[in-house]
Amino acid sequence: MSIDLFQSVYKGKKVLVTGDTGFKGSWMCLWLKELGADVYGYALPPLTKQDNYVTTGLASKIKHRDGDVRDKEKLQTYFNEVQPDLAFHLAAQPLVIDSYNNPHYNFETNLMGTVNFFEAVRHCPSVKVAVNVTTDKCYKNNEIDYGYKETDPMGGDDPYSASKGCSELITNSYLKSFFTKAGTANIASGRAGNVIGGGDWADNRIIPDIIRAYQNKKDLVVRNPTSVRPWQFVLEPVFGYLRLGEKLYNNGKKFSGGWNFGPVPDETYNVNQVVTEVKKLIPSVNVTSPANPEKLHEAGLLQLDITKAMMQLDWKPRLNFEKTIDVTISGYLQELKPGTDVYAARLEQLKQYCSEGVQKNN
Ligand SMILES: NC(=O)c1ccc[n+]([C@@H]2O[C@H](COP(=O)([O-])OP(=O)(O)OC[C@H]3O[C@@H](n4cnc5c(N)ncnc54)[C@H](O)[C@@H]3O)[C@@H](O)[C@H]2O)c1
Repeated sequence: MSIDLFQSVYKGKKVLVTGDTGFKGSWMCLWLKELGADVYGYALPPLTKQDNYVTTGLASKIKHRDGDVRDKEKLQTYFNEVQPDLAFHLAAQPLVIDSYNNPHYNFETNLMGTVNFFEAVRHCPSVKVAVNVTTDKCYKNNEIDYGYKETDPMGGDDPYSASKGCSELITNSYLKSFFTKAGTANIASGRAGNVIGGGDWADNRIIPDIIRAYQNKKDLVVRNPTSVRPWQFVLEPVFGYLRLGEKLYNNGKKFSGGWNFGPVPDETYNVNQVVTEVKKLIPSVNVTSPANPEKLHEAGLLQLDITKAMMQLDWKPRLNFEKTIDVTISGYLQELKPGTDVYAARLEQLKQYCSEGVQKNN
């Protein structure tokens, strides 16, 4: 099967992606590049040599500008220079713990970054489609066994979740205030769950923590073993964002608004189950609990209702839990093997994802 699941919408188009140096952004740019898009990135430089953007050599395959999304003028200038057809906003402060350590930076980046993104779109008439990437944590979380729907209220107790709830409110405000008339850009947001896959080296995320423990032969400290999350292989939400972009491009404003992308309801697992599944593939990792557990608030139970995306976008998750963990761990093991062409390895995973997806409910 072809990797073009998008009716060739991206072929030959200029696509601007903020956050291209990040985990999800770099995977998305790789897919766009392989679809024949002219890809332009805007973000802070990669943090480490291990980052997916660096190991895949993406810098030589797309055009990138170092820049801060808090810098309104610089972002606007870049949009004006590029004149993109479609734009995706993935640049953000994405970590709950970091949002406690520096709430001001978190709010500035995630709120004003979103405002600056939509301002740039608003003043750049070439843009036909703009998608803001937020998170499942944008919803007011009642800690009940319930999958949040797109119509549920925004919320968020910790600074990260609150900033993403605000980013959604900003998106809605721009949509209602500036993007309803014919001829304006079609805008939407994508809300995805906990995303995993090779190339994510962020601190305090369970899979990178496991891989670091494995590499360094150290114990794995598990902070929230019973927390339930909508785990997904990175290409699942990226597939969703790109499908959303295609629908907005081809069919217009009826696809505006918020969209959930997550696993099917019987595919939600807690952190312990993730660790158990990973240990089947790399058994040498030893698991411990934190000596002095911190009492920072983080949602315990988080599930998404993905009916809307399944019914209206013809999108659905392609991998079950086992396959998700399998493809994730093999992604890391590939990149850790000296001499691996990481770009080629990721491309192979993309091709497999498009052709061999297995879904338990089929
Ligand atoms: N990874 C997940 O599990 C997950 C889940 C739900 C939502 N998200 C969201 O997806 C998006 C991408 O997340 P990720 O996991 O790839 O994160 P990441 O940390 O790997 O990448 C973040 C990107 O944003 C850029 N960035 C951060 N602050 C910036 C600033 N001030 N100016 C310009 N660029 C800046 C970074 O340079 C990087 O390119 C974020 O919006 C995040 O909140 C991620």
